[in-house]
Amino acid sequence: MSGLFLTLEGIDGAGKSSHIDALAVLFKAQGRNVTRTREPGGTPLAETLRGLILEQPMDALTESLLVFAARRDHVLKVIEPALARGDVVLCDRFTDATFAYQGAGRGFDMNVLSALERWVQGGRGIGTESAEPASPTAASDSLLQPDITLWFDLLPAIAAERLAGARVPDKFESQPVEFFRRVAAGYAERAAGAERFVRIDASQARDQVWQQIEAALFDRGLIAKGTGESL
Ligand code: TYD
Repeated sequence: MSGLFLTLEGIDGAGKSSHIDALAVLFKAQGRNVTRTREPGGTPLAETLRGLILEQPMDALTESLLVFAARRDHVLKVIEPALARGDVVLCDRFTDATFAYQGAGRGFDMNVLSALERWVQGGRGIGTESAEPASPTAASDSLLQPDITLWFDLLPAIAAERLAGARVPDKFESQPVEFFRRVAAGYAERAAGAERFVRIDASQARDQVWQQIEAALFDRGLIAKGTGESL
């Protein structure tokens, strides 16, 4: 069985993480092995970098380099091996978040992000510790990309209300709503350019959001049937 790379994306407060448990249960019920992971993070090194990225102030290039360094370790050690085994990889955020947060949110150069994406996700040799990174001029169709991306779309003002008082905010969560408007626009732009995106209306109640997820997976032939309910 071939692997399936599924990512969840959206602005902070959109509610994506609350559906990962149910997704894991759903795919296991279909007889699939599931690898659950997240970015930044997913390996000991990448989790260490996550702490720096989420807590330390830094310029946007430094932040982008750290995010992609964490991703490289994660891709080599977790994502590629899991896909090679035929697992369903459920990943809470991936490179779309970099284009949305560092690119659209912080206004960092998207061309530099695209070049880093090609270095880190470029096809040849990925999966072996000794592999050289692919050339940044490698064809974009050889990039490791998610097979399907669930994009939790929610108005930034509503997301901010949901986040308020929930916990101590990290560096990104404490950004003003204007920052999240740019991030949301960045996601919308990414989603318009790739068929792998499924827009989930995250303003709905949690059960209805789950129903949208199940319907999208069913429509794409990724599950045979749903469980009918969330966890
Ligand atoms: P998030 O995924 O929301 O985790 P939690 O639910 O534990 O807060 O937090 C990760 C944060 O990192 C989020 O604010 C988005 C940010 N981020 C980037 O800025 N760039 C990236 O490339 C990634 C993967 C995340």
